[in-house]
Amino acid sequence: MQSDHRRRWLRWPQGTNQTRIGYGADYNPEQWSPEVWRQDVRLMREAGVNIVSLAIFSWARLQPTAQTWDFDWLDEVMDLLGDNGIAVDLATATASPPPWLTTAHPEILPVDRNGHTIWPGARQHWRPTSAVFRQHALALVTEMAKRYGRHPALAAWHVSNELGCHNAWDYSDDAAAAFRIWLADRYGDVETLNAAWGTSFWSQRYGDWPEILVPRLAASHPNPTQQLDFRRFSSDALRDHLRAERHVLGQLTPDIPVTTNFMVMGQTQAMDYASWAGDVDFVANDHYVVPGPQALDELSFSANLTRNLGGGRPWFLMEHSPSAVNWQSVNVAKAPGAMLRDSLTHVAHGADAVCFFQWRQSASGAEKYHSAMVPHAGPDSDVFRSVVELGAVLGDLHEVAGSQVVPPHVAILFDWASWWASELDSHPSSRVRYRQEALDWYSAALATGTRADIVPLSADLSRYDVVVAPILHVVDAELAGRLVDFVEGGGHLVTTYFSGIVDRSDHVHLGGYPGLLRELLGIRIQEFAPLLEHESVALDNGTSGTLWTDQIEITDRETHCVVTYLDGPQSGRPAVTRRVLPLRGSATYVSTRLGAGGIVPVLASVLRIADIIPELPQALRDKVEVSVRAGDDSVFTFLINRTNEQLDLGALASQGTQLARTGDISDPATLGPRGVMVLSSARGSAPAGNRAARRRHHPHQLAEVEP
Ligand code: GAL
Repeated sequence: MQSDHRRRWLRWPQGTNQTRIGYGADYNPEQWSPEVWRQDVRLMREAGVNIVSLAIFSWARLQPTAQTWDFDWLDEVMDLLGDNGIAVDLATATASPPPWLTTAHPEILPVDRNGHTIWPGARQHWRPTSAVFRQHALALVTEMAKRYGRHPALAAWHVSNELGCHNAWDYSDDAAAAFRIWLADRYGDVETLNAAWGTSFWSQRYGDWPEILVPRLAASHPNPTQQLDFRRFSSDALRDHLRAERHVLGQLTPDIPVTTNFMVMGQTQAMDYASWAGDVDFVANDHYVVPGPQALDELSFSANLTRNLGGGRPWFLMEHSPSAVNWQSVNVAKAPGAMLRDSLTHVAHGADAVCFFQWRQSASGAEKYHSAMVPHAGPDSDVFRSVVELGAVLGDLHEVAGSQVVPPHVAILFDWASWWASELDSHPSSRVRYRQEALDWYSAALATGTRADIVPLSADLSRYDVVVAPILHVVDAELAGRLVDFVEGGGHLVTTYFSGIVDRSDHVHLGGYPGLLRELLGIRIQEFAPLLEHESVALDNGTSGTLWTDQIEITDRETHCVVTYLDGPQSGRPAVTRRVLPLRGSATYVSTRLGAGGIVPVLASVLRIADIIPELPQALRDKVEVSVRAGDDSVFTFLINRTNEQLDLGALASQGTQLARTGDISDPATLGPRGVMVLSSARGSAPAGNRAARRRHHPHQLAEVEP
């Protein structure tokens, strides 16, 4: 093992003196021979890899039986990596229990809502609330921390892996017992729980704690508050596991940062990461692109939210794919340049490490058709060549490390409670999709050439001029008050259908919809009017709505109709309303699903009254994504070509010196298909980076653009 002098620069994050962007992958050497390990390290150096995640699925190898340990192979790999200047984000190895453990203790296996056992044979088959599993997992964590806590290659601890990926919902007796404890903590006594759960309905009144169950398969719709609390509890139970491992690591290796890889992506819904972010030393995320018309918007959305979960600080992209994955119905290879573009989009949103699943493509097992940095074809391959190219580009971007994204003027609120509650069963429509609506607003922001933050509910709203709160279903008095303060303070709020409806216990705010937001919006709705799957309604601004309509009554002198229904059940009535408070802000209500394209004119009208000028010229909007990071001395502007065409950047290309470029680089003023350009300028000299200048003197305006 090496002396401690290398420890500091191998640690991640590297603090304010961070000097490089992390680059690497999940590394699974247990699938290969020691000869291959040596070849791996040579290739890693060639690619510029400087950090790998190790031992993620190594439990069965590290602890072959309850009484025996085998660390020799891992010692050798740790030394080999350290000797080659490659840092290790070392897993606690608890992600997937070995067969001997599930054979001896089948009671650790999760149970689905139908009462079926989730058997071993894949991975992550453990109950988050099992005391037996916890005890064995923490014993392993203890061994790992004792053995490797002082290893010079150790950069960070990686707790488990994607907690909740397959075991978020457990309906076992252990879960039921833990749920009762969680509920007792939340409500104190059974009567308070009865009130919160509305158990006067359907004869559900509980007399004592043991009567209360997790929401297993039931004759009809389970109690909605029970369902909502079960979601909260399940997220907390997984977080408790993170905390338990973290506690052991904190005792044994207090100086080593701890993280776990979140799954802020797609429809992964079970973990309320806003409540987890405080339990890691730096936020790490895994992201996989699902092909489709909004694939790039979704990548950007997820990266953006990940950054804001961590309060804007640099974060770690722990996994994405070099090319195809193996778990979609058809697994499409990435087009040339797409992997670099996707990677740099994460960096543009504040990632200071870009890692993949995985280093070397497996020859066997369930993921053998998942791409890797070294594919089945070997290093003589386009994938490996693009991996080497990315390593060089990240090297060129070393000054970007440690800088932070300059916050924009627009925020889109993202709230797990509203996500969960708005999509419960027995609702006016089963077709409400919370994340899709939020994504549509983000797509529209990109289409207007305006940067927007995706922020958790705890964000300081006063930092923004416009706040969009799509389907903000759960609103209590405190949140309603914050929104009123925001608008009275000059902010412009936009919210949509099915917002403001229930409190934290999923009880409807009475007196008409949208409940606690009625006064702020100056409207009242007596009855929901969702649309059938094939229905759409025409609007007088030339767009159309689907999914939902509301029969809106305007109740405030300051509220006016912005867009009108032309047909359908609300023909002639308002579809979009706006209350404009004189000399203060405004509150806009959108009563139908407009989709990304239909949102554009509505969002543009809000940006106009908020005096926010688009950051991109008309010709590049929707085609280029722009992001700005600022360090102590420099501002870094990322220009990302989201299209398969060559784009003329015009004046944008000369707003700084080129730090890095990908794609076709033959013409300095154009961006090749899927290409990325990163410009650097001195802080203060560039139009970006100064939030003190606001409104018409837009701090991030990149060029002369038409409003
Ligand atoms: C992640 C997981 C990895 C690998 C990858 C494949 O969910 O953490 O171990 O399975 O997906 O895309």
